[in-house]
Amino acid sequence: MWKSIPGDTPIDDLSGLKVKGIRLRKELNLHEAENILQAAQKYFTGRLTRRKAPFDFVWLLRLHQEMFGNVWAWAGRLRQFDTNLGVPYRQIEGRLFDLLQDMEYWHDSPWPLQAAMLHHRSVSIHPFLNGNGRWSRMLANIWQRLNGQPYTLWPEATVGEQSVVRKEYLAALRAADKGDYEPMQELHQQFTQAVEAPAPRPRKRGRRPRHKRD
Ligand SMILES: Nc1ncnc2c1ncn2[C@@H]1O[C@H](COP(=O)(O)OP(=O)(O)OP(=O)(O)O)[C@@H](O)[C@H]1O
Ligand SMILES: [Mg+2]
Repeated sequence: MWKSIPGDTPIDDLSGLKVKGIRLRKELNLHEAENILQAAQKYFTGRLTRRKAPFDFVWLLRLHQEMFGNVWAWAGRLRQFDTNLGVPYRQIEGRLFDLLQDMEYWHDSPWPLQAAMLHHRSVSIHPFLNGNGRWSRMLANIWQRLNGQPYTLWPEATVGEQSVVRKEYLAALRAADKGDYEPMQELHQQFTQAVEAPAPRPRKRGRRPRHKRD
């Protein structure tokens, strides 16, 4: 029904759509974005603890449900067939468990690398029918925030649409597919700086410090 963009999972089956009357992809995007914002509020405001984000198998699925559950009936459920991206569907569960187990040995890895690995490995598994990119980006960000690290402010409006940034983003994923995490780390760092180094305040003009007279 809708034209897919490069690097996307096509949406062929609209039977799981909970919101009736959606005709255009941009209407769908808007509903999904609203839902995702609700989930983001849970994880990006206030204190974040392991209780809220336990990083276990059930929670990985719950996060997808929280992000897309208002819009799609299959949100939070593992896909039951193969798609253009991702591992054969029977391997999904095992690969998610492997990922969670491997993360326990990441302590010594630098943060941009941890973010890049979590993001890339989770989206490469592609556990769900759709929304895997947005889920994996939020997952990596929650991991960073949970560990007191600045997280990556992805320009979602450009990364999710055909754009120069998306081309770079997909190239970085393809490099990571071959084991080279450098470009993906660089992208994470590039979009993290906004958090780390806020622009300096402009100086007030025309006011000189007053000196006391002797
Ligand atoms: N070669 C690749 N290797 C790993 N991941 C890929 C590759 N190509 C695309 N992807 C990921 O798959 C995502 C598309 O999957 P899906 O459509 O399920 O997610 P989405 O959240 O709807 O998309 P988006 O990330 O574009 O917002 C891409 O955005 C990208 O993150
Ligand atoms: Mg998609």
